[in-house]
Amino acid sequence: MAKRVGILTGGGDCPGLNAVIRAAAKRCLETPDVECLGILRGWRGLLDELSIPLDLDSVSNILPRGGTILRTSRTNPFATPGGAERVMDNMKRLGLDALIAVGGFDELSVAHLLFSEHGLNVVGIPKTIDNDVEGTEYTFGFDSTVSIAMEALDRIHTTAESHDRVMVVEVMGRLAGWIALYAGLASGADFILIPEKPFTVQKVCDTILRRHDRGKDFSIVVVAEGARVAETPDEEGIYVTQDSAIDEFGRVRLGGVGTVLAREIEKRTGYDTRVTMLGHTQRGGTSTAFDRVLGTRFGVAAANLALKGDFGKMVALQANRIVSISLEEATRKRRTVPDELYEVAKIFFG
Ligand code: F6P
Repeated sequence: MAKRVGILTGGGDCPGLNAVIRAAAKRCLETPDVECLGILRGWRGLLDELSIPLDLDSVSNILPRGGTILRTSRTNPFATPGGAERVMDNMKRLGLDALIAVGGFDELSVAHLLFSEHGLNVVGIPKTIDNDVEGTEYTFGFDSTVSIAMEALDRIHTTAESHDRVMVVEVMGRLAGWIALYAGLASGADFILIPEKPFTVQKVCDTILRRHDRGKDFSIVVVAEGARVAETPDEEGIYVTQDSAIDEFGRVRLGGVGTVLAREIEKRTGYDTRVTMLGHTQRGGTSTAFDRVLGTRFGVAAANLALKGDFGKMVALQANRIVSISLEEATRKRRTVPDELYEVAKIFFG
């Protein structure tokens, strides 16, 4: 049985991370002779040997707190020459028998490669507001973000109505439309644009014009940051990016599609149009009850796997039960919005 278990949180932060850390640490610490170590700043902490002891005191009172007490970063050990070997050496130097890696698609892919190619004793926990990890119905963090976005959209609704305006609201989600779809459905948006379905500006404008023709004087458009603008309906379309820089996983910073769209809507329809980019408000602060409970269940289940030595797995939610699947299966591809869900949303467009 593992005697010394490390926990790290990598990638973008999200509500619920501290619930996971608390649960995993408590489950380990209640086991006789087991110690816990917090690895700081995601995979960076295993490259640079950054750690803190985790005892019952350090995880006390953190359940509702936003962010992560372990800090985070978007570090990819495979982007540094010899990085994977350094991770393995530092696992030994820190005396770790097992590691719980809490991360999104990219960080879990690192966990899978380190397990399959270097024999790292690792268990993954799916964390991301984007909800784009295969094999789990929900990642923790997603529900909180959707609630924050829904509340913002409800507020935008009343000001849109007062001023007879079109309001374009851009939400996060990278290359998956989950946040846009759920927040848009929950708040009664009049159009939802997601990366999975490239869109033409004209189609959006026609829908708004039709809506206004039937007596509505305002419209709410929710657009995912990764939504793709196309010239014609059968094109793939292109993403709008904030700059050309890429991170250690080769990802660009998406963002700005809302501004482009709002400008075009105003030009083509003549309606007063404003844009709101919800940005990092979607990631900060406390979590919903759903995410606290999911995070707690994930944390306990991952600790159980780590203590048993059942490595190369990720905990997942399926039919409201916590199961484990292989990291290989979880990281084969990103989980995107299925057609049937978008068909439901489309009923409410216009
Ligand atoms: O993956 C989570 C996420 O919030 C994405 O939705 C978004 O594209 C990205 O992270 C933003 O990253 P950063 O915090 O580096 O700006």
